[in-house]
Amino acid sequence: MKILVATEKPFAPVAIKLLRDVTDAEGHQLALLEKYKDMVELLSAVADADALIVRSDLVTAQLLDAAKKLRIVVRAGAGYDNLDLEACTRHNVVAMNTPGQNSNAVAELAFEMMLYQARGGFEGKSGSELRGKNIGLHAFGNVGKYMADIAKGFGMHVYAFDPFVKEDDMKKAGVSACSDTGELYSKCQYVSLHMPANEKTKKSVGYELLSKMPEDAVLVNTARKEIVDEEGLLKIFEERPDFSYLSDVEPDSKNVFEEKYQDRFIFTVKKMGAQTEEANINAGIAAARQIVDYFKTGNEKYRLNK
Ligand code: 3PG
Repeated sequence: MKILVATEKPFAPVAIKLLRDVTDAEGHQLALLEKYKDMVELLSAVADADALIVRSDLVTAQLLDAAKKLRIVVRAGAGYDNLDLEACTRHNVVAMNTPGQNSNAVAELAFEMMLYQARGGFEGKSGSELRGKNIGLHAFGNVGKYMADIAKGFGMHVYAFDPFVKEDDMKKAGVSACSDTGELYSKCQYVSLHMPANEKTKKSVGYELLSKMPEDAVLVNTARKEIVDEEGLLKIFEERPDFSYLSDVEPDSKNVFEEKYQDRFIFTVKKMGAQTEEANINAGIAAARQIVDYFKTGNEKYRLNK
């Protein structure tokens, strides 16, 4: 079988080597398309692929039309808002993700941004410490759990809100459960977002919630920029000079932040959360193994389009 790895943002070379070991061992052929510049390149590369591994790359109906032999696509990562699942089903393509494989990297990036911001960008001024501060995890999935572990190491008080996780499971993880988002945002100087982008969550974090946050509020977004209602965020920024926003990828209104609110934000230019060798190896190998196993045994454990 031909397995195509199509990543606009490439995996680390060591991850590709290890991923290739997995596919070679089963006699499959691995093809690579990295840093492609437009859809045309991708459409031609998928034409004869039986399986596809992507990251945040868009898997659209147009791509599936072009991928005549495709049987399975695996998103090497957690969030699958880039996959058109209905189109996958219509084209008889199994869609999977690799949950949990890059979560630690994302959690570490959240703390890297928090520490850099707390120390004023290491430019000589007195900063602040994380110890003793409250952090609120908006959703408590794989990344949320790593966040809680790291936060406890820093001596922070950890709160979480997640309607899909039992209070008991949060307790076992040393996290105080909040009964709603209002409670979470009112209690926590730091709030970190960890929910997927979908019709329910898009623009769900806006003025009303953000205005509840205590003094020196810091909103950390390593999830998806679409979750935050930027209009509401900009309104808070205008009203509260003590408010900061740390985001893994630039918001649409980046120019306004740059013009008016220097020193109150950190935006990565490219999505960096999962961009470590370890995360690339974990997610890349998991994707390759899931494909190999699907062809061999029909295992659909991580199937998303049921
Ligand atoms: C994910 O959903 O797994 C992360 O956002 C990582 O995305 P990436 O693979 O595009 O870096």
